[in-house]
Amino acid sequence: MESLKRTRIVEILGEKMAITAGTKVNLKGWVRTKRGNKSVAFIALNDGSIIHNIQIVVDLSVFDEQTMKLITTGSCISVNGVLVESPGQGQAFEVQASEIEVYGTADAETYPLQKKGHTLEFLREIAHLRPRTNTFGAVLRIRHAMSFAVHKFFNDRGFYYLHTPIITGSDAEGAGAMFRVTTLDAKNPPLTPSGEVDFTNDFFGKPTNLTVSGQLEGELGALALSNVYTFGPTFRAEKSYTPRHLAEFWMIEPEMAFYDINDNMDLAEEFLKYLVNYALDNCMADLEFLNKMYDNELIERLRFVTGNAFQRLDYTEAIDILMASGQKFEYPVDWGTDLQSEHERYMVEKHFKKPVILTNYPKEIKAFYMKQNDDNRTVRAMDVLFPRIGEIIGGSQREENLEKLTNRINELGIPEKDMWWYIDTRRFGTAPHSGFGLGFERLILFVTGMANIRDVIPFPRTTQNADF
Ligand code: 4AD
Ligand code: MG
Repeated sequence: MESLKRTRIVEILGEKMAITAGTKVNLKGWVRTKRGNKSVAFIALNDGSIIHNIQIVVDLSVFDEQTMKLITTGSCISVNGVLVESPGQGQAFEVQASEIEVYGTADAETYPLQKKGHTLEFLREIAHLRPRTNTFGAVLRIRHAMSFAVHKFFNDRGFYYLHTPIITGSDAEGAGAMFRVTTLDAKNPPLTPSGEVDFTNDFFGKPTNLTVSGQLEGELGALALSNVYTFGPTFRAEKSYTPRHLAEFWMIEPEMAFYDINDNMDLAEEFLKYLVNYALDNCMADLEFLNKMYDNELIERLRFVTGNAFQRLDYTEAIDILMASGQKFEYPVDWGTDLQSEHERYMVEKHFKKPVILTNYPKEIKAFYMKQNDDNRTVRAMDVLFPRIGEIIGGSQREENLEKLTNRINELGIPEKDMWWYIDTRRFGTAPHSGFGLGFERLILFVTGMANIRDVIPFPRTTQNADF
């Protein structure tokens, strides 16, 4: 076969249309379908660079039957041919093949993605192959674009990307149950005289876990570099079977010195709008596909979010609204209860009909590090609530006062000896500061319109599921 530099399909069918008719190209990709008649075959080829397939036209009088038989749905091929304007409907260009090499066949009897229209549940069972579907191609490209936009947003604003540890020796954040990290023999661990597991012999000489959040270390960075953010995997060993929880998810956590809660809300709102706008500007072909196939209000909803101010109000006002709503909730509400996703979605979807930022939550339902208000019952927390998702961001202004912080730590029975390094920052050069955490997969759920969080991460980890 003549050796030509490979062209990606996006260079032909993407918005830039960098390549023009008459050019001889080499394309490599996976066959989505092959159809035709005795004299001509039409191959729909996809290489993952764009949602669209390109049509390869094969004159069967020039190609041997043996090769053509190997080209079935799922097989991988390399094609040389001339790009021509397509007479057919629906595509601007097609390729008239002159040479084809088959890289890999895919037996029609056993290839699982033979037909279109598999359920998402079935595709979860073949997570190793589902990136080859239109849906997962679209989701994964959007996921990439959103990661890139996260870094661009912060880099453009002078934030530094801080790498916080995955393995942690502190379990004080209290954001969720932890996964233990150990090299001890599970069957026969060393024991202390009183019969407890003796972690002094473990790898780190103490109990360690996978992190639930990079925030506490993020604060250490902010109190030196002013503005930092983390973007990494976080782990929570809760057995929740909801379509919005994963045991392993990615979180973006900016932390800013000299920001109060209002600055924090402004940044969160600007950040979310930036990300959604970035998707609208850069992922339209994929969004149009998802809008058509899964959620025909998707693009409208994305535009709405970028175009309207988020509603800001106090937790206490939200409780009043929920109690006066006359709605029957599965979990009753009362001042002091934690809001469930049904309450959050009522506020966003029914009452205000736009994203909501709730602040000043009861201190009892929030973490120890949140800045205490003078009323002694609420803290300067903020949750951003989104349509279809509920909580997408959780954050707060942080308690910077040494005495107030240590009092709260003691009240909650958190061992001060595990937290000395965190408390030290309030002892030496403390500063008002704030931050928040955006659940990356919740963002991707919102932007793609997908309904289940297992379908917006390549390899979901949930209880009883770590197969791939
Ligand atoms: O509200 P959370 O627990 O807040 C924190 O972890 C803080 N340390 C953040 C901070 O202030 N730096 O989690 C933050 C966000 C949630 O709003 C949600 O979007 C997401 O993380 N999240 C999950 N996403 C998927 N699966 C789970 N199990 C999640 N738990 C939280
Ligand atoms: Mg939260």
